Amino acid sequence: MARIYAGLTTSHVPAIGAAIDLGKTEQPYWRPVFEGYEFSKHWVSQQPPDVVTLVYNDHASAFSLEMIPTFALGCAEQFMPADEGWGPRPVPVVQGHSELAAHIAQAVILDEFDLTIVNKMDVDHGLTVPLSLVFGQPPQWPCRVIPLAVNVVQYPPPTGRRCLNFGRAIARAVESYPEDLRVMIWGTGGMSHQLQGQRAGLINQPFDNHFLDTIGPDPEALARIQHLEYLREAGSEGIELVMWLIMRGALHERVRVLHRFYHVPASNTAVGHLLLDNQV
Ligand code: DHB
Ligand code: FE
Repeated sequence: MARIYAGLTTSHVPAIGAAIDLGKTEQPYWRPVFEGYEFSKHWVSQQPPDVVTLVYNDHASAFSLEMIPTFALGCAEQFMPADEGWGPRPVPVVQGHSELAAHIAQAVILDEFDLTIVNKMDVDHGLTVPLSLVFGQPPQWPCRVIPLAVNVVQYPPPTGRRCLNFGRAIARAVESYPEDLRVMIWGTGGMSHQLQGQRAGLINQPFDNHFLDTIGPDPEALARIQHLEYLREAGSEGIELVMWLIMRGALHERVRVLHRFYHVPASNTAVGHLLLDNQV
């Protein structure tokens, strides 16, 4: 039986990817950011996943305003790094897990969580920056990755409650897959940031820290946060945090927080990172 044993959350700031690709990780601005991931890098290398289900958002790379699926599951064999304007990042091609992805699609759709099946898709910084933060710069990514793209770009995005419940459906789906696979779920994006308009540069440390405090013990409380509250408190891009609730829903009711990191700012964003595992 496949089993989700741990979850991870992290921001996905594109400048973090550029710092890795351009060899700047030891520079004074960047070093504290990367230090915050050392514990999780080591932990994941000691308990490696066969598959990561990686919840992220596409930033008008694979999709555009012409077509915006709310939840889109990558069922392809491979996903190429997207060209986001500077050429594709020099990172390995992402190897998918078509069989498990197809199984998840079938199981969650029959469980009444309709999602879009994607058989060809390039993946942008939303997916590749978290991989780089946790796995560094290997010649190949050390595990398969199932991309789950969530619309947090065009209103209305899904609610936090929908995301939490969707995560629970994903866990049921994974656990009904017959092959023994060790699966991690990652919820990416956030924390508070706003990239445009009069409030560009907004960061809300109390809001972020409350989110970090609460997601482990009381995700139901976070599921009550409405879109307008995310906008007001966490900035226009803070809505990316609903993706963390998919990760949380896919873990057990009781979890352990193995590592917590918060750093302000990287580029325009408050970087938040958690490593959680299921308490048995
Ligand atoms: C930044 C953060 C993001 O989440 C993003 O998608 C793009 C840019 C930033 O802080 O620069
Ligand atoms: Fe983003």
